[in-house]
Amino acid sequence: MCKTKYLRFLFFILISVSVFPVSAMADLNIYSHRQPFLIKPFIDIYESKTGNKVNIVYSSKGLAQRLKAEGELSPADIILTVDMARLAVYADKDLLAPVSSDLLNKTIPQNLRDTENKWFAFSKRARVIAVSKTSDDLELIKDYEDLADPIWKGRICSRPGSHVYNRGLLASLIYNNGYDAATSWAKNLKANFARRPQGNDRAQIKGIYEGVCDIAIINHYYFGKLKFSENPEHREWAESVRLIFPNQDNRGTHINISGGGVAKYSKNKEEAVKFLEFLTSDEAQNLYSSINFEYPINENIPLSHELENWGIFSQDSMPIVKIADLAPVSQKIIDIVGW
Ligand SMILES: [Fe+2]
Repeated sequence: MCKTKYLRFLFFILISVSVFPVSAMADLNIYSHRQPFLIKPFIDIYESKTGNKVNIVYSSKGLAQRLKAEGELSPADIILTVDMARLAVYADKDLLAPVSSDLLNKTIPQNLRDTENKWFAFSKRARVIAVSKTSDDLELIKDYEDLADPIWKGRICSRPGSHVYNRGLLASLIYNNGYDAATSWAKNLKANFARRPQGNDRAQIKGIYEGVCDIAIINHYYFGKLKFSENPEHREWAESVRLIFPNQDNRGTHINISGGGVAKYSKNKEEAVKFLEFLTSDEAQNLYSSINFEYPINENIPLSHELENWGIFSQDSMPIVKIADLAPVSQKIIDIVGW
């Protein structure tokens, strides 16, 4: 090992030891791309049910590299993340252990889990179209494809194309319509933008509220987060839009997932699997729906009243792994058209 690599390795080990108290090493350590406040309600229930202690290391990026550098000495037991392509990175880098669980196989639909049982989806998120309540021509929008129509010139706000959520949506267009059609869709969509792509999904709703644009593509749960925000201004943003679940007369709305797996070198695999199983339990699945406004993967779980009010919709049945498989091609198109 060269000196820099060795020092970096030593640094990771020191960080790991300082983050996880020695007494807690027998409990569960989660590396999470999901923000702690989003998973805390789940952890609280799990801890009170089992008496186990859960430690969370949160980072928006770099966790896969960290896990790789820690190797066999890694204290991580579980990885939790959002977006299929991010999940696939862990599987591709051989950082996840195969899991044998009849319960996970029974609860999670086949297109939402790995054929090698290394990753599993725990919730679904729909990429929907938010439109201004004040314009009256927007009922013409039914499908993602409609957004490429020049009649919407100067009326669409978008976050940068290379964000994983947009890359995933574009993957679904490549899968369903082919490379050429997806490329011209992206090109024509971009030609309709009201401003340079910028900000996150929430910022697009703000753009509609401020009258910068009338149309935006967002992940559905941001509408709920704004609608129930403690910030009154955010509630006004949500109040200014309504949601369209696209492609209901054909393939269904594009969905992505949050998910996770067991770390390859977990010292506590049995309990780690139990934690994943807990995330598919009725109790946890109800939480995804009621607190996070996400859709349960367990189809026997009824939606929260709030989600039900937003509309029951059909979902694109593209195997979720295609989001990861097609990510490089999606990115290529995004670069070509300059989204
Ligand atoms: Fe998100």
